[in-house]
Amino acid sequence: MVTCVTRSAEATKELAGQLVVLMVPGDVVLLSGDLGAGKTTFSQGVGRALGVDEPVTSPTFTLVRHYEVEPGPAGVRTLLHADIYRLDHLGEIADLGLGQLVEDGGVALVEWGEAAEPVLGSGALLVSIEADPEDEGVRMLHLSGLAGGWSDRWDRLIAAVTPWWSS
Ligand SMILES: Nc1ncnc2c1ncn2[C@@H]1O[C@H](COP(=O)(O)OP(=O)(O)OP(=O)(O)O)[C@@H](O)[C@H]1O
Ligand SMILES: [Mg+2]
Repeated sequence: MVTCVTRSAEATKELAGQLVVLMVPGDVVLLSGDLGAGKTTFSQGVGRALGVDEPVTSPTFTLVRHYEVEPGPAGVRTLLHADIYRLDHLGEIADLGLGQLVEDGGVALVEWGEAAEPVLGSGALLVSIEADPEDEGVRMLHLSGLAGGWSDRWDRLIAAVTPWWSS
């Protein structure tokens, strides 16, 4: 696990954008953290780095939003952004079919994603965001690869987030 600190929403977007160069089709990122922690902000950073030209907004009422992406070297063609706050059952999460959707050139970001670990966790990147109770603009981001899925990229990930390492 690596822990980073960002001191503004923009910094969280930049950090998220740095991770995009590591992403390949099929990746799932599970975002966790309380209301207002910065899960959507992180997702906006991913969208921006992928060149999504429409606003990446909270998908709360739609569950999953799809954004088409101009494929880069890794061949990512779709960004899927999900918010599973309102889903209570693993079956409902499985029914979203995110695992299948990403297989066709997609990467998925899942807000409240920790609940999806049993069905989507295999190989996922977990990003847990924590607000600093003493400093409004500060967030701690804990990054970890579940089930070793990111182990072969871990050195590159650590390097990509160097500017935000927590000391
Ligand atoms: N360092 C930071 N990183 C991310 N967001 C920050 C930071 N500092 C302040 N903010 C602000 O915190 C808020 C985060 O809201 P955001 O919608 O991203 O949270 P969320 O985790 O998606 O919430 P929800 O659970 O309601 O979906 C934004 O208003 C953002 O500008
Ligand atoms: Mg959100």
